[in-house]
Amino acid sequence: MHATAGTAIASEASGSAECIHQLQLPGSEVVKWPKACAHYRPPLAISPPAGIVLNSFHRRQQRIQAVPSLPPSSSPSPRAQRVRKPILAGNGTAPLAAAGARSTLAPDSLAESLLRAAHVIAAVRSGRSLTVALRALDPADPATRAAAQEVAYGSLRRYGCGEFILRRLLDRTLPHAETEALLLATLYRLHTRPDAAYMVVDQAVSAAGELVGGAFRGLVNAVLRNYLRQREALLTAMADDQEATFQHPAWWLARLRRTYPDCWPELVGVGNSLPPMTLRVNRRRVTLNDYVESLRRSGLPCRELGGSALMLDRPVAVDVLPGFADGLVSIQDAGAQRAAELLQPMAGERVLDACCAPGGKTGHLLELADIELLALDIDSDRTRRVQDNLLRLGLVATVRVADCTASEQWWDGQPFDAILADVPCTASGVVRRHPDIKYLRRESDVRRFARLQSTLLDKLWPLLRPGGRLLYATCSVFPEENGAQIDAFLVRQPGALRLAEERLLPREEHDGFFYALLRKAL
Ligand SMILES: C[S@@+](CC[C@H](N)C(=O)[O-])C[C@H]1O[C@@H](n2cnc3c(N)ncnc32)[C@H](O)[C@@H]1O
Repeated sequence: MHATAGTAIASEASGSAECIHQLQLPGSEVVKWPKACAHYRPPLAISPPAGIVLNSFHRRQQRIQAVPSLPPSSSPSPRAQRVRKPILAGNGTAPLAAAGARSTLAPDSLAESLLRAAHVIAAVRSGRSLTVALRALDPADPATRAAAQEVAYGSLRRYGCGEFILRRLLDRTLPHAETEALLLATLYRLHTRPDAAYMVVDQAVSAAGELVGGAFRGLVNAVLRNYLRQREALLTAMADDQEATFQHPAWWLARLRRTYPDCWPELVGVGNSLPPMTLRVNRRRVTLNDYVESLRRSGLPCRELGGSALMLDRPVAVDVLPGFADGLVSIQDAGAQRAAELLQPMAGERVLDACCAPGGKTGHLLELADIELLALDIDSDRTRRVQDNLLRLGLVATVRVADCTASEQWWDGQPFDAILADVPCTASGVVRRHPDIKYLRRESDVRRFARLQSTLLDKLWPLLRPGGRLLYATCSVFPEENGAQIDAFLVRQPGALRLAEERLLPREEHDGFFYALLRKAL
């Protein structure tokens, strides 16, 4: 559809108690927004020629007036009907605070899940981690929360696709972060529900009504309907865009291509897939066979992956797992379970878990042997989760919030028999579980993490007794953090011997990990 140019009248009512901007487009409703929205700029150019310029797919610039050039969205479905008086939610400056605000939409509506997902996506795009962004969602009922999470995860996993489409439908970044995030969330839902496209668009427009007093309802409607009209051509064009096709940042793809010329497409594919739910059976409490049997009785078929790892055929809520609350089982990727197996703690040993939170490997070490374990982490919030995990498992360690590189602050001078150094890294091997890192990581982070890792190694090594073992671990696939890091360390420390090295590239059954088991010469 060709939209006609419109003339916009922008005015600013300053100094008044209400303090609003307003904008009138020919034949359209007046669009108003509060001046208090510091980040907000009118979606339409104020100076003539005014009108929202949307990129047409063939680069023919069309002027599309705010609302009426496109068929108005049909009335919201009953599930999206307003249940309370509209409130302003989200102004782009404080997405996390806004994420906690209640909307007026029905909690079980698609509109509500799109809106919630938009808050989360906007927060991630502004630099917050997905975990933090999700925590800021108000404690909705589990179904509402799960629906929003699914949209947020799915949208982030499809890195590059939504952005590709928006670049072609909008001539510039929208000045309102959550509205742009709402468009990304909706494009994801349109991808998974192409059969219900018009219902999805209606719901998105209802969600837009909850942002900035509904100022962008027309824009959201226009962009999404424009997308539906051009969908086939856009999807065809997307095939030429590397980031959209492979759903990873260009720098990341270039590195994978260089390092893994034969298998990089598979690695990318695994990174974009849904992760399995893998369990670690607590062999102190139950045998593997008995637990497999109790899963079977609960209607939860699984596959044995070796060691204590069982991969469920389909993910479920943890409270459905037999004996979860009693510590019979933990959630842990099969690749992560290799850490304790490689370090092989022995009864009576004094072990340091230098970067322990949230404690997945801490629990596993304690399940394998009666050891004296000191578990440190620099992050106090994450450290609390270690204590919760150990409590559930009925296991005991000394857990402290501490910087493991500042040993003068916490070390009693007694050398350790074994050290687990599960160091901070780019997490490029676990991107299917943490799709936000596609947005958060920069190429320069690889070197930054590598420098931090070499400092950690250098500071931890003197705490190991002669003959003791240190297991270096990352969940990265970049060599600078892995083999190259260890090669450089062995040059710096001639007294260190490499006992074993294991590089697990991401596969359906496990995430990507790197392990190097080192021994200190006697
Ligand atoms: C890869 S995670 C550890 C995962 C953990 N081992 C597990 O299996 O659940 C890295 C951890 O290192 C912690 N960390 C980073 N720098 C640290 C430091 N200087 N001292 C102690 N912990 C640190 C981070 O807070 C983060 O929790």
